[in-house]
Amino acid sequence: MLVENNVPLQPHNTFGIVAKAARLVRVGQASDLSAVLADASLRDAPKFVLGGGSNIVITGDVKPLVLKIEIMGKRLVAQTPKAWIVESGAGEDWHELVAWTLENGFPGLENLAMIPGTVGASPVQNIGAYGVELQDRFESLDAFDLDTGKTFTLDAAQCAFGYRDSVFKHASQALGNGSAGFGLAGRAVITRVRFALPKVWKPVLGYADLERKMTLSGASAAQLTPAQLFGWVCEIRRAKLPDPARIGNAGSFFKNPTVSAEQCADIIAREPKIVHYKLADGTVKLAAGWLIDACGWKGKSVGNAAVYDKQALVLINKGGVQNPVTGGEVMTLAKAIQTSVYERFGIRLEPEPVVI
Ligand code: EPU
Repeated sequence: MLVENNVPLQPHNTFGIVAKAARLVRVGQASDLSAVLADASLRDAPKFVLGGGSNIVITGDVKPLVLKIEIMGKRLVAQTPKAWIVESGAGEDWHELVAWTLENGFPGLENLAMIPGTVGASPVQNIGAYGVELQDRFESLDAFDLDTGKTFTLDAAQCAFGYRDSVFKHASQALGNGSAGFGLAGRAVITRVRFALPKVWKPVLGYADLERKMTLSGASAAQLTPAQLFGWVCEIRRAKLPDPARIGNAGSFFKNPTVSAEQCADIIAREPKIVHYKLADGTVKLAAGWLIDACGWKGKSVGNAAVYDKQALVLINKGGVQNPVTGGEVMTLAKAIQTSVYERFGIRLEPEPVVI
């Protein structure tokens, strides 16, 4: 195990923020984590787990020990009568995994194409797009417990998945639903993830942008192939979302807020055009992008942090690699957006990325 000092983090976060990690260990296998715990100078140090850095805002040099997860490998590990079970190392690139599953005849992840980040980060916020969430294709995962040094396996129920949420986002005794519970933030390091990919493939359509592609192609759902759907998702994302390789960003910066049916009726009376979706439990999800757009934020900036002009939900680094945004600028812009949305709609937007 090699401990690197003063490691530049700009290449390791998709905003392209400049910062250093005081100490960083590359984790190529679970035994590297055991080695960290066996080292007296590292064992008790606060730790920060870094995957693809696609969902973080770095606000200064990182003092905790950074564990950079580079556990690789993708393979078919089992099958059930209904599903192929595919396993991936946590350090694999998410989009490459999606492409690999399709090339190898295990479709089911195509709606989640082009989401930046690593496989190990995907369960943490239960990534989702175009009608599919990670939890719909999840089988189990292996994780390493930094408190006990033991590895353990969790199934979907134990991961407590919610909208952009899981047990990995919460500290012990503080689950998102307000009830006391088992949280694993800062404690569990995900090392491998297994997916159950249905042997009988059915396209997940229904999302407005995909329906439009369907109509334009003239194809019926029965004729559609996984590769075609994958291609459409890639096209939609390229048109709407900035490519982090060219314009630094962390995807959607805020979660879509949920309100009660009464609250929503109240808001609609004032704002008839508000984009909203009714959920099965009677609550209503509002499009945060619409709320931010309606407050006139598209294209506005604070220093080198700006609101993307094609999608108000995404904050970007408009200074590029040469003149990069700071975490402080991103957070100042985010707070100004939160304040203006709250003042106009009475709704508190919650950021999606982890701020360190
Ligand atoms: N809208 C506006 N103005 C904007 C942005 C959006 O009016 O600037 C409206 C759109 O016209 C649409 C609605 O808001 O009617 C929703 O927008 P969109 O369909 O683009 O989806 P979203 O709610 O903005 C969510 C996810 C994305 C995911 C897409 C597709 C969240 C926070 N975001 O975005 O996830 O790709 O749906 O499923 O749930 C991510 O998490 O990083 C992410 C990109």
